[in-house]
Amino acid sequence: MASTTGMRGGGFYDAHSSGQRAAMDEFLPWMVEAMADLPLPARGSPIALLDLGSSEGANAIHAVGAIIKALRERTSADIWTFFDDLPTNDFNQLFANLFPDQTPTSRTAGIYPAAVGGSLFERVAPASSLDIATTFNAVGWMSALPATPLRQFISPSPPAQRAFREGVSVTPEERAAFTQHAREDILSFYRSRAAELKPGGKLLVQVFGRNDEHNTANGIIDGLSDAMLDMVEDGRLTRDVYENFVFPVFYRSLPELLPPSGESGEPTAFRVDKAEARECRVPFNEEFARSGDSRAWAGSYAGFIRAFSEPVFTSGLPNTPDRPQLIDELYARMANRFEADPERYEFHFISLGALLTRV
Ligand SMILES: C[S@@+](CC[C@H](N)C(=O)[O-])C[C@H]1O[C@@H](n2cnc3c(N)ncnc32)[C@H](O)[C@@H]1O
Repeated sequence: MASTTGMRGGGFYDAHSSGQRAAMDEFLPWMVEAMADLPLPARGSPIALLDLGSSEGANAIHAVGAIIKALRERTSADIWTFFDDLPTNDFNQLFANLFPDQTPTSRTAGIYPAAVGGSLFERVAPASSLDIATTFNAVGWMSALPATPLRQFISPSPPAQRAFREGVSVTPEERAAFTQHAREDILSFYRSRAAELKPGGKLLVQVFGRNDEHNTANGIIDGLSDAMLDMVEDGRLTRDVYENFVFPVFYRSLPELLPPSGESGEPTAFRVDKAEARECRVPFNEEFARSGDSRAWAGSYAGFIRAFSEPVFTSGLPNTPDRPQLIDELYARMANRFEADPERYEFHFISLGALLTRV
């Protein structure tokens, strides 16, 4: 079973993902520029583009639109645009975004959108069928949770030093088990894409991660963990719930994201054209710096986190009649903590990007 059912649907993710859009935009230009020398299929054959982990679609459609614009400078060939996500994703909202005026004829000439349900750690397209593949803010979600429990924290990324709390920790052994799992996930991802892409095909992989200075986890995970522990202390959640809960995201470093170089025994299917870790702009941090309004910052920050984490809490908390209220309370407590102590929950979005060519 996948480690999440997807993002919060009904337009909520789209409305609270300007951070992910900014992180995507750091590296999208690499793929746009790469369209200048993409090998084009024979005349009359379509170009196939697959985006993996598209969610409700607003950001994915923005990315795919930019790539199509670059392709149209070279060719009027038909283009398949495939949008993949887990089968539990809100694909209705994705189609609402693809057809904003709700008529099936609103699509741009020569562009054929389709949805694909399936895990990006597996094959989701026929062999050698794709010219272009992209994925944004998605490969950090683990395929499943390793068997190793985390009793003293909710993530394999340890808490930030500034967010110290008695009894909260991650051991090196726990971290190692998750690192190994994340390694296997990324190898499965590259193996699948290697099979699906044509020789010369382009792959852009972007995801939240960490660099030597900051980890995107800090702030997000510290806020969620603190809110849960506050609820344990107040008798609103049992300690058992905390000890059995793991937020199923692995925040990689750039080397942990890259495909095998050949030295590890895995065949090299990709050439790495460019790869970088960048700290990217966070719209709600910029607004806070302008206005100094910590309440507004806390509300936007909590909404951003809720959009991608709520479904994990829906399946991670016991199915009691008051679960929806407990989830509301969790996010309200987290937002209150953000407002009261912005420094403890300081947020840095480290975006990792790699542009690869199938050799
Ligand atoms: C944070 S959203 C990113 C959405 C969009 N790409 C963006 O950048 O705004 C992560 C998406 O990855 C999807 N996802 C997580 N694990 C996945 C998997 N194994 N296979 C396919 N999609 C997955 C989630 O369902 C979710 O829609």
